[in-house]
Amino acid sequence: MNNFVYFNPVKLIFGKGTITSLSEVLPKDKKIMLVYGGGSIKKNFVYSQIINSLKGFDFVEFAGIEPNPAYETCMKAVEIIKAQNVGFLLAAGGGSVLDAVKFIAAASKFDGDPWNILAEKAEIKSALPLGSVITLPATGSEMNAYSVISKKATNEKLAFYSQEIFPNFSIIDPEATYSLPIKQVINGLVDTFVHTVEQYVTFDVNSPLQDRQAEAILKTIVEISNDVINKQNDYESRANFFWCATSALNGVISCGVPQDWATHMIGHELTAFYGIDHAQSLAIVLPRVWKHNIEHKQSKLIQFGKRVFDIKGKDSKKTAQKAINKTEEFFQSLGIKTKLSDYGIDAKEAAEKISKRFKERNTKLGEKEQLTYKDIKNILKKC
Ligand code: NZQ
Ligand code: ZN
Repeated sequence: MNNFVYFNPVKLIFGKGTITSLSEVLPKDKKIMLVYGGGSIKKNFVYSQIINSLKGFDFVEFAGIEPNPAYETCMKAVEIIKAQNVGFLLAAGGGSVLDAVKFIAAASKFDGDPWNILAEKAEIKSALPLGSVITLPATGSEMNAYSVISKKATNEKLAFYSQEIFPNFSIIDPEATYSLPIKQVINGLVDTFVHTVEQYVTFDVNSPLQDRQAEAILKTIVEISNDVINKQNDYESRANFFWCATSALNGVISCGVPQDWATHMIGHELTAFYGIDHAQSLAIVLPRVWKHNIEHKQSKLIQFGKRVFDIKGKDSKKTAQKAINKTEEFFQSLGIKTKLSDYGIDAKEAAEKISKRFKERNTKLGEKEQLTYKDIKNILKKC
């Protein structure tokens, strides 16, 4: 097992009716900014419960954070925060709203051009404190210190990490997911699945506990996915789904193991250039990244196939291939497409555009940094 440091300060408040606990965890002595997206929180009970809990608090609202949150929109919030002396940020919505709030928190305290937080990975010395009411199981943003922001002007989508942007608390009421459009539910299942395998289907470092923690999430997702999709108001499957999503990216399963993230890095570019949803990009890219890396990943692919999908067979390349095929079939069975052509995107063009970007940035991807821009081009051509 590799060395590791584990740190996670997020207070997670989980279950039915938990939004009412907001009044206990919000600071009384600071002006609060409630940040949300395009209005989904007003179509269910989330907005009204938050507003009720905010009685007696000094707060302003900032609406209009879009999916794949825009840098440009975030900077408008920063201006208001500075003008009105806001001291605490409350995100209400999906991962996009929360990621936006994390960036706004850092940008509000940043000296210099805030785009450098993303483009140059500039050091963040401090950030405004923040909390969340998260309404979409997918990103794990509620319990991690990552944020992904897009710059519309240049078609860029970049991530950053800072311990300063951990939420102080996150509230999850699984009943808030009942209003999710089915497409977002499917996206969330796929994102959770891919987060888990990015930290598990790599190479063996003798980490049986972490392997089984990852397999527990994957098997649970496979087991509950039918109920999650088909029983809209089923509390148990939605609660289990949300806890899987949070657990997949709160730092636990990555302790002491190699991590891949090539699928995410390539997927982010597909979203930046073509606007397809985050999870849609992952469902396309993952099987091709795995096929390209089948030799590096063979033993983990076999273990994954046998333990998660009950595949039978010898410890051979053929069994690893079966595990890849089974994964793509699983995605398709959920109702998500797995080819660029399904979205009218020309694979050759995407391969050129995106590999050029990785060449310019001089970045290599994968758990052994084994993928150059040339590999990325080949992977995308097969998408
Ligand atoms: O904007 P509103 O009106 O709130 O509607 C949203 C949005 O249209 C809607 N929605 C959210 N909760 C709802 C709901 N509709 C009805 N009922 C509810 N309970 O769903 C739509 C999508 O929301 P969004 O927040 O964009 O989805 P998601 O949570 O999947 O977040 C995606 C973003 O997170 C980033 C992605 O790249 C993408 O930008 N990621 C963040 C990560 C992190 N911070 O750790 C890791 C991930 O790998 C990912 O990259
Ligand atoms: Zn993701």
